[in-house]
Amino acid sequence: MPNAWFETVAVAQRRAKRRLPGSVYGALLAGSERGTTYQDNMAAFAEVGFAPHVADLSAEREQATTVLGQPVSLPVIISPTGVQAVHPDGEVAVARAAAARGTAMGLSSFASKPVGEVVAANPHTFFQMYWMGGKDSMLAQMQRAREAGAKGLIVTLDWSFSHGRDWGSPWIPERLDLKAMARFAPEGITHPRWLLAFARSRRLPDLTTPNVTAVGDEAPTFFGAYGEWMQTPPPTWDDVRWMREEWGGPFLVKGIIRLDDAQRAVDVGADAISVSNHGGNNLDGTPATIRALPAIAEAVGDQVEVLLDGGVRRGSDVVKALALGARAVMIGRAYLWGLAAGGQAGVENVLDILRNGIDSALLGLGRSSVHELTPDDVVLPQGFTRVLGGPSSTGTHRG
Ligand SMILES: Cc1cc2nc3c(=O)[nH]c(=O)nc-3n(C[C@H](O)[C@H](O)[C@H](O)COP(=O)(O)O)c2cc1C
Repeated sequence: MPNAWFETVAVAQRRAKRRLPGSVYGALLAGSERGTTYQDNMAAFAEVGFAPHVADLSAEREQATTVLGQPVSLPVIISPTGVQAVHPDGEVAVARAAAARGTAMGLSSFASKPVGEVVAANPHTFFQMYWMGGKDSMLAQMQRAREAGAKGLIVTLDWSFSHGRDWGSPWIPERLDLKAMARFAPEGITHPRWLLAFARSRRLPDLTTPNVTAVGDEAPTFFGAYGEWMQTPPPTWDDVRWMREEWGGPFLVKGIIRLDDAQRAVDVGADAISVSNHGGNNLDGTPATIRALPAIAEAVGDQVEVLLDGGVRRGSDVVKALALGARAVMIGRAYLWGLAAGGQAGVENVLDILRNGIDSALLGLGRSSVHELTPDDVVLPQGFTRVLGGPSSTGTHRG
């Protein structure tokens, strides 16, 4: 058995690519249209530099913080993703890994595991919803999550149903029945470790979405739920306020990239926002989240917790985001690659990589805690930042 440990997220991604059938790997890679936003999320982090010290460094470095009131041992939490078919334990493995490493779990309403099972694996779980179906159905989803013990609600607002990718979209079956498996078979045979993991668990990859219904109702298929979502008229800010009020507990609005929307999220009573472009899967051409973060954090950072997600692959990326005003980040593909490469241990490996990278950057920057990071710790190239939806300057840059 070769050493399962990997040293960077890039190595985990290469292993995931080797291990997963092409269509499953493609579903995780995702992105939309040209992939401009997907690429920019990562490229922009690479443009940010550090301004390190060499002496008077701190021997002790602290990473603990809180997100929506939940204690986390590092400023990184799990972003919700529909993880279908990556690993038989899916979101439960991710939740266990997050718990083992002392952080919180975001669970997608398009997840394959019931929220109760995920909360049992990690009590610090936030449930994520879209504006989908009627209000009764949304209330039933909230009720299910609340009864299961979810500690907060994430409402994801950025989705515009863009389905084309220049590199091709994978085929995802409606159900994994025998007919679909026969079509998958050539991919399965050439990826025996993926198939073996499912064979050992005696389960087929689950393509249903149990959390979009009330407990006891039959879980719709992924496409059944997606079709319902497509037919739902998009929400107004008053609708978001309604959700906030019905939920009652900690509430995070995910998908903010503009200053005016950040302010509206504050106005409807959000406790937190995530500066996000859905990892580049939504409207292609949206700037990298790290470019939009500084202005948003400056504008609303004293009113809500500001998180960021998109393109985080290293501990140093996390430190850059914190230096530019984020309280913590959420990761998507990084843990999906870890899950594909090594199940729960692979996700733990990814969280360890990020923790070590954060620690190393703190040491170099002469900081003893993530709470001490400031914009002085980083170097931004001219024209790096983007200020979208500002009072006078739409889309202009500064810095
Ligand atoms: C395969 C995949 C599925 C996703 N599914 C969801 C989802 O169901 N709900 C949601 O709010 N965000 C979803 N996202 C977006 C992530 O929560 C997150 O915003 C994004 O992955 C961050 O970018 P990163 O992958 O570069 O870390 C998904 C992302 C990917 C890659």
